[in-house]
Amino acid sequence: MINDTNIPSTLMEVNHLSIDYVTPGRPPAHAVEDVTLTLREGEVLGLVGESGCGKTTLMLSLMRLLPAAGRIVGGEVNFMGTDLLNLSETDIADVRWKRISMIFQGAMNALNPVRTVGDQISEAITQHIPMNDKTALDNRVGELLDLVGIAPHRKVEYPHQYSGGMRQRAMIAMALACTPQVVIADEPTTALDVMIQAQILELLQTLQQKLGLAIILVTHDLGLVAEMCDSVLVMYGGVTAEYSDVDTIFNEPKHPYTQELLKAFPDLSNPRETLASIPGYPPRLDALPPGCRFAPRCPAVFDRCHVEQPDIHAVTPTHYTSCHLVENS
Ligand SMILES: Nc1ncnc2c1ncn2[C@@H]1O[C@H](COP(=O)(O)OP(=O)(O)OP(=O)(O)O)[C@@H](O)[C@H]1O
Ligand SMILES: [Mg+2]
Repeated sequence: MINDTNIPSTLMEVNHLSIDYVTPGRPPAHAVEDVTLTLREGEVLGLVGESGCGKTTLMLSLMRLLPAAGRIVGGEVNFMGTDLLNLSETDIADVRWKRISMIFQGAMNALNPVRTVGDQISEAITQHIPMNDKTALDNRVGELLDLVGIAPHRKVEYPHQYSGGMRQRAMIAMALACTPQVVIADEPTTALDVMIQAQILELLQTLQQKLGLAIILVTHDLGLVAEMCDSVLVMYGGVTAEYSDVDTIFNEPKHPYTQELLKAFPDLSNPRETLASIPGYPPRLDALPPGCRFAPRCPAVFDRCHVEQPDIHAVTPTHYTSCHLVENS
């Protein structure tokens, strides 16, 4: 199915992907609409945007793990030449965890409290790769723990004997158990204190370099994006507001939403500057405004924004944004 011998430098291409949530008796919620992105080998892509803008939905769809109400209504997810959306359940199960894995939002609380961490990592391996040799399996568990900075002898301990940071490391070990090429990290450090956050991020960075992983990092933390990411996709209300390399996003943002997000981010060189916040709320995804989804909150809004949804425009071949201002300039 997927050919390992000739791995292209582009690992994944998401083309015009749209996802609805369907609840009986209610209009569908357009949680993701027309999102296009490319992920290359070893690339770290940052996915940012306000709470509820569709980040987790988009990520779950890449692994075909959407909740029951989620429907992919258009687009494709091309992974190494295969559209994941067309694969049978058996074939997608072969991709999940082995090719693409995910560290879930709030993952560290997902460990089973009554089983040792080592057992849970063993299971993450054997569920996907048959391994009858107990010693080899034990060694692999130790190796994975060591990789994430946990002494292998602690595999016999239970989650409550681990600190929050260690539990999160154990979840990262599980995500790496089947040597994936892509790791999706959905807010991997939320709920951890800042010191531990820094350690986990350093760990992800080291692993990324050591294993040549491609990472999609979902985060609210623009500082982290600046430090870790090669490219950034900014989502607003289910659509792509802006997508480019990290330098362009930080230095030449074109979409007023990106500009406002950056203003809301502390500038260490000018700590006295007042931080801006964006007044108003994100749109209801089951009752979207007819024009641009950001129009009701946009400081640069003009008439057309209220009636016509902007298409995605290429500012340069590597910089995309959906804003009528850019179209007009
Ligand atoms: N199972 C579901 N059924 C119906 N609607 C859902 C479901 N899961 C999410 N949604 C809706 O889809 C939208 C996108 O949710 P999603 O979890 O993808 O956002 P997010 O960007 O990851 O937010 P956060 O930053 O808070 O994690 C939200 O409006 C949410 O209410
Ligand atoms: Mg989320």
